[in-house]
Amino acid sequence: MKVVVEKHPLAIRWFHWLNFPVLALMIWSGLWIYWANDVYRLGWGRTTLLKFFPQSFYAAFHMDHKLAQGMSWHFVLMWVFALNGLLYVLYTALSGEWRYLLPTRRSFREAWQVVLHDVGLRKEPLPPRKFNGAQQLAYTTVILMGAGSLLTGLAIYKPTQLGWLTTALGGYEWARAEHFALTIGYVLFFLVHIAQVVRAGWNNFRAMVAGFEIQDVPTAPTETTAPAAPSAATAVRP
Ligand code: HEM
Repeated sequence: MKVVVEKHPLAIRWFHWLNFPVLALMIWSGLWIYWANDVYRLGWGRTTLLKFFPQSFYAAFHMDHKLAQGMSWHFVLMWVFALNGLLYVLYTALSGEWRYLLPTRRSFREAWQVVLHDVGLRKEPLPPRKFNGAQQLAYTTVILMGAGSLLTGLAIYKPTQLGWLTTALGGYEWARAEHFALTIGYVLFFLVHIAQVVRAGWNNFRAMVAGFEIQDVPTAPTETTAPAAPSAATAVRP
């Protein structure tokens, strides 16, 4: 029998879906700024394996010569990103949602089991909780990354006024590199997150939009002494 199960509170869904376009625009405008002084690469000595980014990349996406526009967008949206993130963290802390989200001691072992399951080396089903260990680790990490982006961003935005912060983060050059590395981290998180959402399917995705999931529960025996099965309209938290 199918039952409706509440999964994601309305507030969390708003914070999540607002965060996505804001973060995407922050990365986009960040690239407009980065173009003006694109110093990072993967390599050693004179050998470069990967340059962030080749001119063809900026040209393809019309990202060149937009430093001033990039700064304007970036510095407006950072307030939205910061406020949305702060409210999300406050809501998660006060509503008790943190209990589903924060990793526990078993999360690391479970995350490894999820990896084995996802590559087809483990057949046992994953734990039927709201978030498994891998999700707890990934989501908590990305929230901490958000805080990291704000701090490193502030350190390079106001390195004089917030000199103590810039110094604590290793100086201007280090803070800038940390800010850039966190952005690469979001892109990697995003790729894995989307792949997992596609893999988990429509029921899981709809829950992040509408708030509920449809679950199959075994039907109770029809004897009069048997406890009543939940009605299809029952809404329960996992
Ligand atoms: C880079 C942008 C994104 C970030 C940082 C992000 C982050 C997160 C976080 C932290 C959660 C856990 C929320 C909670 O319950 O407190 C979450 C859940 C979720 N996200 Fe995202 N997300 C992003 C983009 C997206 C996109 C584009 C989609 C869909 C196409 C998506 C679909 C989902 C779904 C379906 C869940 C629930 C997962 C589940 O219940 O198993 N996210 N995301």
